[in-house]
Amino acid sequence: MQVHDKRLDIVTSVATFKKQKKTIGFVPTMGALHQGHLALVEQAFKENEVVVVSIFVNPTQFNASEDLVNYPRTLESDVQLLSELSKDIIVFAPTAQEVYGDRTESTTYNFNGLENEMEGKFRPGHFDGVGTVLKHLFTIVSPTRAYFGEKDFQQLQIVKKLVEIEKMSVKIVGCPIYRKESGLALSSRNKRLNDSQLNASPLIYKTLKQVKKDFGIKSANTLNKWVSEQFANHPELELEYFEIAKVSDLKSIKRKQKNTKYRAFIAVFAGKIRLIDNIALN
Ligand code: PAF
Repeated sequence: MQVHDKRLDIVTSVATFKKQKKTIGFVPTMGALHQGHLALVEQAFKENEVVVVSIFVNPTQFNASEDLVNYPRTLESDVQLLSELSKDIIVFAPTAQEVYGDRTESTTYNFNGLENEMEGKFRPGHFDGVGTVLKHLFTIVSPTRAYFGEKDFQQLQIVKKLVEIEKMSVKIVGCPIYRKESGLALSSRNKRLNDSQLNASPLIYKTLKQVKKDFGIKSANTLNKWVSEQFANHPELELEYFEIAKVSDLKSIKRKQKNTKYRAFIAVFAGKIRLIDNIALN
């Protein structure tokens, strides 16, 4: 399996395949790989001849330095997991210097307001960091298609906007959320949950499923209140936000309209660990 940490090496490797007119599937990750990432890699293999996985904990997208320091870094076991899936995967695990050069800074983007909703409100600058690193990574890897999980649905919409703004030719593919049997959406941050947080965590998806069930018969306002009640005084979980939003612009709604697609979004703290999830409502 090829594992590269130098920009020049991955560029050269990909160029060889491009010369042979092979399609390149790309799965950008921050490592601490789990089944959800592997599902993205499998999808990329189905649709492309070559698959590149990047493993890079991107400093510019963390607004809390504590989260950046504590973010799990497990490169050796990540590479092992990928090699068990296929020896043909090309891994790119660069340093910040290789990605950013001498200035590890983000560009300020206007994603048509998508960046100001939900995650954007609670994590200022986060989507500038995501946009900037992906612009660099797409330039380095020049993929045919890039794969993103719907757990970060807002990120997925923003990445689609990014390639439009930057006029990049990569096709962005969204993939379904991968869940544990308990319903907890897989996330690298789950590794930091203790037993009682883990036991409490299924409430997040359970709540979303109930919202979906009730969406046809209850108002957005009633559902918002009901969700707050589910987490009020909870010993392990603290609700940061719950919103029912339009898929098109991610703006939260007070009232439902006909012929409009909606999703419910939630962010919850388990101690210091922040968990997000979402569900399509119609
Ligand atoms: O979703 C992630 O893991 C990150 O935001 C991404 C897309 C790899 C960019 O650093």
